[in-house]
Amino acid sequence: PGYSETLPAHISTKVHLTKDLVLNTPIISAAMDTVTEHKMAQVMAQHGGFGVIHKNMSIKSQCYEVQKVKKYESGMILDPITLPPETPIYKALELMRKHSISGVPITKYDPSKKTSRLEGILTNRDLRFETKLDQPVSSIMTPREKLITAKEGVTLEQAKEILHKHRIEKLPVMDAQGVLKGLITIKDIEKAIAFPDATKDQHGRLFVGAAVGTGQEEQKRAEHLMRAEVDLLCVDTAHGFSKNVIDMLSFLKVKYPDTVLMVGNVATKEGALALAEAGADIIKVGMGPGSICTTRVVSGVGVPQVSAILECANALRKKNKSIVADGGIKHSGDLTKAVALGAQAIMVGNMLAGSDESPGEIVLYRGRTYKAYRGMGSLEAMKKGSKDRYRQENTFMSDKMVPEGVEGRVPYRGSASGILHQMIGGLKAGMGYIGAKNIIDFQKKANFIKVSSQSLSESHIHDVSITKEAPNYRLE
Ligand code: XMP
Repeated sequence: PGYSETLPAHISTKVHLTKDLVLNTPIISAAMDTVTEHKMAQVMAQHGGFGVIHKNMSIKSQCYEVQKVKKYESGMILDPITLPPETPIYKALELMRKHSISGVPITKYDPSKKTSRLEGILTNRDLRFETKLDQPVSSIMTPREKLITAKEGVTLEQAKEILHKHRIEKLPVMDAQGVLKGLITIKDIEKAIAFPDATKDQHGRLFVGAAVGTGQEEQKRAEHLMRAEVDLLCVDTAHGFSKNVIDMLSFLKVKYPDTVLMVGNVATKEGALALAEAGADIIKVGMGPGSICTTRVVSGVGVPQVSAILECANALRKKNKSIVADGGIKHSGDLTKAVALGAQAIMVGNMLAGSDESPGEIVLYRGRTYKAYRGMGSLEAMKKGSKDRYRQENTFMSDKMVPEGVEGRVPYRGSASGILHQMIGGLKAGMGYIGAKNIIDFQKKANFIKVSSQSLSESHIHDVSITKEAPNYRLE
């Protein structure tokens, strides 16, 4: 603890991962198949962090997951679903149900100019009492002459005013030639207001990352993900200080110089410097600290996480690169310690795996609720595709694979937003105890002392049984 004049409410947890990538919440959800698909990535970005969509699925499915995040909350939907005027009404209804949307711009494609002119808009209101479902949508849509539209370049504030003034929910945006450029909806504006800390791209859409491996097939994956407009590529491996990873990183750096590259994992200064040299913007640190990891026990190799973060942070201090501490976070206090050691953010699997937004169902076991959580180096995850993360891509028989992780379950913990709130609350409390207003100040002021196992048990609750669980403390 240090002298403090700051209250947690006045503390900023904002960090710069790169010059342009700013997180209000320095937490990233792990690229694991029981942690991050589109729902987790959405909630993470809404609350000021972001998620990395795992790659234990086909390239097509992973791109689809990325697109779902990009379309979820956008200042302006850049490529809204549209229909031509001759579409029968029943087809429009089917499409609107399938995509859970309440309105579709009707456009006419001009093949000579390769552009789509706005002809009208079809909304639930137009469809409500309609019975002649084989008629074309043009017979019931609000035609262009009666439409309220906005010009390209309209700001969200101006759009909100127009929507409010005309009591409408959807605002098509056009260029001077009447070509549809996007759609702004009241729902998206409301979401933007509800999540002021959200991590967004330059178009106001939620920020999302996706994992790739190494080798030619994974270069193809990266190419498709870029087309799906992913914001960050994460070369996700168990051993970042290796030729394959450095080759992949060099390839990505040349091909996509403007995309944020997060690469790992490493646990030594040599590893961190090699990735920095090869062009990584963000270096992921952690070898074996994860809750489901058995790497250190199985292979006998690894570095204790506090030492690894400290060593890598010291090595990169003058290199203008960021560090993400990946794995081993059990309580919010571990976030505080990781940041104090020099990490700009943390990556978590376990703490988020039990939330509503992680993939998979809630299961009941002996009267308590859980969700499945497994290591990407567990046998089942490797059988599904992640064996390249553990450099076993050429092992085809599952009984010949050497797992470096386990399969298990974690307690069900409700919404991820509640978990993030407690995590940030813990970090702010820690910064308040040290007397730091922001992360840079905090990293300068924080000091460490070595504790004994006796002290660790003193730190946890003792001589009492919990009768009512706290939202941020659990002994399992
Ligand atoms: P937590 O502690 O949040 O850690 O569960 C998540 C991180 O653990 C890494 N990871 C693994 N490491 N074997 C390993 O040695 C595995 O099977 C495994 N699966 C995930 C990964 O870095 C993740 O972000």
